[in-house]
Amino acid sequence: MKIDIIKENLKADIVGRDILFFDEVDSTNDLLFRLGEEAASDGTVVISEMQTKGRGRMNRSWFSPAGRNLYTSVLFRPDISVSESPVFTFIASLALMDSFESLGISPQIKWPNDIVYEGKKIAGVLTEMKPGKSFLVDFIVVGIGANLNMRYEDFKENEGVSGVATSAYEILGHEIEREKFAGSLLESLEQYYAVFLDEGVHSIVATWTNRWGCINRHIRIHTEGGTVEGVVKKVDRTGYLYLETPDGNLEKVIAGDTLF
Ligand code: BTN
Repeated sequence: MKIDIIKENLKADIVGRDILFFDEVDSTNDLLFRLGEEAASDGTVVISEMQTKGRGRMNRSWFSPAGRNLYTSVLFRPDISVSESPVFTFIASLALMDSFESLGISPQIKWPNDIVYEGKKIAGVLTEMKPGKSFLVDFIVVGIGANLNMRYEDFKENEGVSGVATSAYEILGHEIEREKFAGSLLESLEQYYAVFLDEGVHSIVATWTNRWGCINRHIRIHTEGGTVEGVVKKVDRTGYLYLETPDGNLEKVIAGDTLF
């Protein structure tokens, strides 16, 4: 990938002011977290051609073959409380939805952090945070993996994702210009970040909830404590779900995997 071409496609002021590009890293999130501790500025972006220890939520690995996809992390330093930090997963999901839609793909959001196409994962978001003083955030690292040019043959090397993942290439049948996608994603991230700074967390949660489209729908979620199911009543400002269960109770769901 060429940074110059990404920059040509990027009009953002904050996100991507500094873009650091690597051929290989352990994980773009881990690297940027270390840079955050060394005072990297708001909007710093790390992109790598491949990752040797790409990570997903719940200690899962993220399949990161070289030269095919987009593996990026973005650092934010907002003056917000720790409890608001999960909204950055929503910001990234909305930006991913816009960027895939501009390729002509209409994926779906899957709570809490997946973007799926016909039930198969096309992108994921891993938001991590360093707490600062007085319940405020020091910095947030938003990691994004987008399956762009990966082939089904590539997946076969990796049993874990075969059958459950797809890519823009497999959907559209042609190569995606990764630099262009990266530029549009970073720009869109900045736009949603600006909405968050101007209008607050509620505005992002409302936009995300609308796009997700699951309010008043019956869903099942696999959690560490077992499967819960019910009708979605709301999503709160920390990203938690509230389900009305078959016995009429309102159950708060903090983490898990939505089952379709
Ligand atoms: C998930 O689906 O659980 C989240 C996947 C996030 C993967 C991205 S790839 C770039 C960044 N670096 C990582 O190690 N993980 C995220």
